[in-house]
Amino acid sequence: MATLAPYSDPQDLASGSAAPPPRAPGGLPGLGHLIPLLRDPLAFIESLAGVGGVARVQLGPRSVYVVTAPALVHELLVSHAHDAPRGAVQQTLRDAFGDGLLMSEGTAHRNRRRSMQSAFTKGRTAAYMPVIQEVVRERSSRWGDGRPVDVAKEMNHLALDVVTRTLFGARLDDGLAAAFHRALPDLVKGQIFHSLYPHPSFARLPLPVNRRFDEAVRVINQVVDRAVGEPAAGGDDTLLALLRSATDPATGEPLTEDDVRSEAITMFGAGTETASTTMTWLLHELVRHPDVLARVVAELDGHLGDPAGAADDVLTPETFEHLPYTRDTLRELLRLHTPNAFLMRTAARDLTLGAYRIPAGSELLFSLTALHRHSEFFPDPHTFDPDRWSADARSCGAARRAAMPFGAGKHKCVGEDLAWAEIGVVAATLLRTYRLVPVQDSAAKEVVWTTVQAQGLTVGFAPRTDPEENR
Ligand code: HEM
Repeated sequence: MATLAPYSDPQDLASGSAAPPPRAPGGLPGLGHLIPLLRDPLAFIESLAGVGGVARVQLGPRSVYVVTAPALVHELLVSHAHDAPRGAVQQTLRDAFGDGLLMSEGTAHRNRRRSMQSAFTKGRTAAYMPVIQEVVRERSSRWGDGRPVDVAKEMNHLALDVVTRTLFGARLDDGLAAAFHRALPDLVKGQIFHSLYPHPSFARLPLPVNRRFDEAVRVINQVVDRAVGEPAAGGDDTLLALLRSATDPATGEPLTEDDVRSEAITMFGAGTETASTTMTWLLHELVRHPDVLARVVAELDGHLGDPAGAADDVLTPETFEHLPYTRDTLRELLRLHTPNAFLMRTAARDLTLGAYRIPAGSELLFSLTALHRHSEFFPDPHTFDPDRWSADARSCGAARRAAMPFGAGKHKCVGEDLAWAEIGVVAATLLRTYRLVPVQDSAAKEVVWTTVQAQGLTVGFAPRTDPEENR
């Protein structure tokens, strides 16, 4: 029977000797907790927050440990970084795309991350900001006439353009971009099914989900080949150029073209859907909260000039520092709509996590989204409230310690600064150029795969002729 004591602090829990984590309540013979997990995965994981910080969940014959307390997720990612590598979900991608940064571990991961780091410095990020603004201008000129727009679809295109232009100095034609977006859901679905199969050989069965996964792998490889193979691709300081000039410290040899492709695929995979869902949720929340929209726009106009006066001003890292309310709004967005619904680790040896004993070979699952909806750290967690982050808010300190939308430890998001720059520039450019035109009854529906997607939102973007509009 589960202990339903609210989670407090790992120090308190650690005072006794390590014990097995409690079993999650409920579950059916043979199926365990598969039904609630498949029916509403996030609600199920959120419901485990009271089960002592780690709960053992039964998925058919497999036991998985779900970590729900922020301090224990942090401990897993930082203190156990070396003895809890990434798990089965990543293995599927490694089989399909090779050993990119998102899939590799140990020395290979460390060396590769080092060789890419200079594409993600603060200086490079600042240089990407005008490129991102150009992408937003180009894309939005196609739909910025006030008619309703499928926001998720347009943000997908925008995010793909941003990665292609900033990191690879390349452009994809619309046909390839559309093929990429069609393939991504099949890839993600296949990845999840593969990780739930009782045996890896199930991935080779002629099931529709497996066939669609294989086709998605083929399409994505084709898209990436085109992006990295374009004669005009790159410049001297793109990620692509960096990778092609890097050597493997173990062998002294340059990276192979397969290595370069694996890294390119990683960036397209890790850097597009995360950013595009975040931007879609931003528009969803701003349309629903005109008060927040008005404050953000007033702050942006105040620092960048109103659209009629200085429309060419680009957001810079320095200006961003002077936009506290806009930053709190984006921070709140990344809390409530954290894209990474599920991440996993595997215990490479017996671990002690807080007060719990986790046997070697166990799979550990955590949801950054559910973590950020934990009411002990984020009062009224389902409410979108940028003011919870203001320095004088009572819960601000606890919230700051518990929030980790970009992860923690050695696998912490390498694209974090780029993501902030992207979301900031997209918000600044769209909100200063256009008036948001809400479409009645349109709202983003939360659809959970490996990311928490925002589907079904339509909004119009009409040219903003009067500075008071949007405010
Ligand atoms: C809102 C946007 C984003 C969010 C919330 C986000 C979140 C995350 C998180 C939570 C991780 C850690 C995963 C783990 O520990 O298993 C991660 C890793 C990673 N992210 Fe992001 N990400 C975002 C955007 C980006 C962008 C724009 C890029 C690059 C173009 C990127 C590239 C990566 C890569 C390569 C990794 C693996 C890092 C490693 O293992 O060393 N991400 N991201």
